Amino acid sequence: MDKLNINREVKKIERQLKDTIKSNNVVLEEAAHHLLSSGGKRVRPSFVILSSEYGDSPRNKDTYKIAVSLELIHMATLVHDDVIDKSDKRRGRLTISKKWDQDTAILTGNYLLALALKHIASIEDKRIHTILSHAIVDVCRGELFQFQDQFNSNQPVTNYLRRINRKTALLIQLATELGALSAHADTKTANKMKRIGHYIGMSFQIVDDILDFTSTEKQLGKPVGSDLMNGHITLPVLLEIRNNPSFKQKIDALQPNSPKEDFIYCVNYIRQSDSIDQSKQVSRHYLQKAVRLLDELEENTATTWFKKLIKRMGSRNV
Ligand code: IPE
Ligand code: IPE
Ligand code: MG
Ligand code: MG
Ligand code: MG
Repeated sequence: MDKLNINREVKKIERQLKDTIKSNNVVLEEAAHHLLSSGGKRVRPSFVILSSEYGDSPRNKDTYKIAVSLELIHMATLVHDDVIDKSDKRRGRLTISKKWDQDTAILTGNYLLALALKHIASIEDKRIHTILSHAIVDVCRGELFQFQDQFNSNQPVTNYLRRINRKTALLIQLATELGALSAHADTKTANKMKRIGHYIGMSFQIVDDILDFTSTEKQLGKPVGSDLMNGHITLPVLLEIRNNPSFKQKIDALQPNSPKEDFIYCVNYIRQSDSIDQSKQVSRHYLQKAVRLLDELEENTATTWFKKLIKRMGSRNV
């Protein structure tokens, strides 16, 4: 087996993704290709590949199938997420709804999800299918709960954590767990990998939610403050309203049709508040837990890459 180089692995996955989305339907293929070619960090497939190094048979056929499949599922959730969030831009490009229309976006999301399932259908290990199908159900529940909690400023932080676990951490947890299982890692190791993925995923969504306030439109590839404008009450807001009754009143007063200035006021307020740093601390705390667990595992060629990736995630700005 050749020496592990994650950049080369990602290129290999990119080629497989491109082959997979080929379709007889021009619009579907174009729409899927529009998203695929717009970039993306390919975080999930990278973790699948790395995690497989903790088993006896790293980077085997099943590992690649899972890596491709999880990126397709991720892409499907992005396409549907943009419909729900009414986003015009993703990765600096027009979203599928905006470039084509909403029906095309919904169909493309379904198509990508179906392709993901087709891609792993030949995997014999039943555990993979069971774990994956349960996780997809929970990801949907996460997005649904978020929908129900829109503009609800009275939700506890635990609600938020449960929600981001479902909508984001689960998919990253799948990457590390299934990556390890695909390579026939023992149950104990696979369980540890699963927990590592969970912690990384929690931190990942918290960083994403912080960036929604602190970044720029250019870097984000979409407008700053989109979460709050959609009524998504994320960690920086929840931490601020806990200690600041007058700010809580401002958030309480927000409604979908509130004037844009009211949203901008709240977004600017959060940008310069301590709750940004506090949220960063929560995110770091999760990453530290991941690194600590990683250190409990026997060191191998993937460990350095793993840590590099974790570090990059902690300091990412897109
Ligand atoms: C965006 O995920 C959605 C979240 C779960 C935060 P990524 O930040 O991994 O998106 P891409 O694939 O790199 O664009
Ligand atoms: C991402 O949440 C969760 C998904 C399951 C797609 P966001 O709504 O924060 O994702 P972005 O910021 O639009 O990428
Ligand atoms: Mg969303
Ligand atoms: Mg979104
Ligand atoms: Mg976001």
